[in-house]
Amino acid sequence: MGKTENEKRLAAEASVEFIKEGMVVGLGTGSTAEFMIRRLGEKVTEGLVLTGVPSSERTASLARELGIPLTSLDSVDKLDIYIDGADEIDADFNMIKGGGGALLREKILAYNSKFNVIIVDSSKKVKSLGKFRLPVEVIPLAHKKIIDELKGLGLDPILRKVDEAEYRTDENNYIVDLDMSTHKNAQELNATLLAIPGVVETGLFINYVNVLIVGNAGVVDVMKVDRG
Ligand code: A5P
Repeated sequence: MGKTENEKRLAAEASVEFIKEGMVVGLGTGSTAEFMIRRLGEKVTEGLVLTGVPSSERTASLARELGIPLTSLDSVDKLDIYIDGADEIDADFNMIKGGGGALLREKILAYNSKFNVIIVDSSKKVKSLGKFRLPVEVIPLAHKKIIDELKGLGLDPILRKVDEAEYRTDENNYIVDLDMSTHKNAQELNATLLAIPGVVETGLFINYVNVLIVGNAGVVDVMKVDRG
């Protein structure tokens, strides 16, 4: 296993220690979250009782394969904990997420969770957000108009494609990936994007983190975040 993979695994396995008997656990999406879900599957096999709420169809099918019982968000009051990866996280714990395309369900779960744990390898920590393109989920009907507007805002929008076809999210929407590197105020940019009709959600996660776990050269740093 390479250095990055090992850091992901370390952070993911440390996060599972936050899960207690009987909890409702939001399950993130992506390669780091997958390490966490696999460890959780082992814990369930060993007898830990919990219920998972998946943030994507991909995560749901992995969890089913591992024997993790699942339910829907509507069947529970709040998630006790939500654990997920990130594409970038800055010094203020603001994040870009959605590289794997699941940002909408991920944000809904994080918003409806009592406690959010983010697990990353050391490459995800950045001084300021924006080297990674910001994913934005849009309604297909409006995507051309939205792309024109985003071009006007200097965000260099690229419609995400897979093998020439438009990428479709679990909600059957499109994703547009933006260059936000010249936009330093993430909160302001988020509000600007959400004000455009047809923009469903952005991959900017502001003020969502309770604990950040970073895998770093063979050890883990666990940071508790004061969310004010
Ligand atoms: C999925 O839509 C994303 O938000 C992921 O959480 C994020 O892209 C991190 O993915 P990796 O753990 O694969 O880097």
